[in-house]
Amino acid sequence: MRLVLLGPPGAGKGTQAHRLAEKYGVLLVSTGDLFREHSRRDTHLGRQARAYMDRGELVPDEIVLSMVLARIGAPGAAGGFMLDGFPRTLNQAEALEESLEEWGLELTAALDLELDEEIVVKRLTARRVCSSCGRPYNVELSPPAETGVCGSCGGELVQREDDREDVVRRRLEVYERETASLVEFYEQRGLLRRIDGDGTEDEVTERAEAALRG
Ligand code: AP5
Repeated sequence: MRLVLLGPPGAGKGTQAHRLAEKYGVLLVSTGDLFREHSRRDTHLGRQARAYMDRGELVPDEIVLSMVLARIGAPGAAGGFMLDGFPRTLNQAEALEESLEEWGLELTAALDLELDEEIVVKRLTARRVCSSCGRPYNVELSPPAETGVCGSCGGELVQREDDREDVVRRRLEVYERETASLVEFYEQRGLLRRIDGDGTEDEVTERAEAALRG
């Protein structure tokens, strides 16, 4: 199975990507997580990406493309993949399509998680992530047992620099300008599956699975 996960910031892509990649046994590639990992290790790529991410802007296509295509062209992705947060521009979508064609592969579907903008802002400003293992928490809906401490590994919970309300609103603008048109791109190819992202995590996973069966 080769899947693309679309949707605005905070729609639950990362949450669902982990669940679905595990269920279908495919490689999970999250561009945001990859950039954050590089940023934590303070690599050249991490420093380049952080400057864009902290402002809520997209990382330039050439940086993203070389990183993602190297991953999914690797033998490890032969069993399929789930792309979370990629593609995000028309240029990235076309480059992905061309590479898959070259490799004789096709996408199975593009899942679009739909969520109202004000719910997005609430979810993201309430998000804290473990600085050690990356697990996300919602401090209002699913807080950790001990305030500020990760229930999985004991790491410190922090707020992502781009989860401040002003940056969240900027990311939503960038999404509308650069990424929203990909819904049409995949609809024209008969690959789009729309999923209502409002509901519990389990409900959203069930909807995604049903869309992939149907
Ligand atoms: P990225 O990390 O991909 O951020 P994003 O797309 O803005 O998405 P988020 O991680 O904020 O949210 P999500 O949809 O994954 O939701 P989540 O499951 O965490 O990208 C960050 C930056 O990297 C970009 O701004 C850009 O600069 C750069 N970048 C990345 N890819 C790029 C690309 N291809 N090209 C160029 N630049 C790129 O959930 C959010 C919160 O809600 C969590 O707290 C979670 O616990 C909670 N939650 C999840 N599901 C539910 C539910 N059903 N009910 C209640 N709460 C829920």
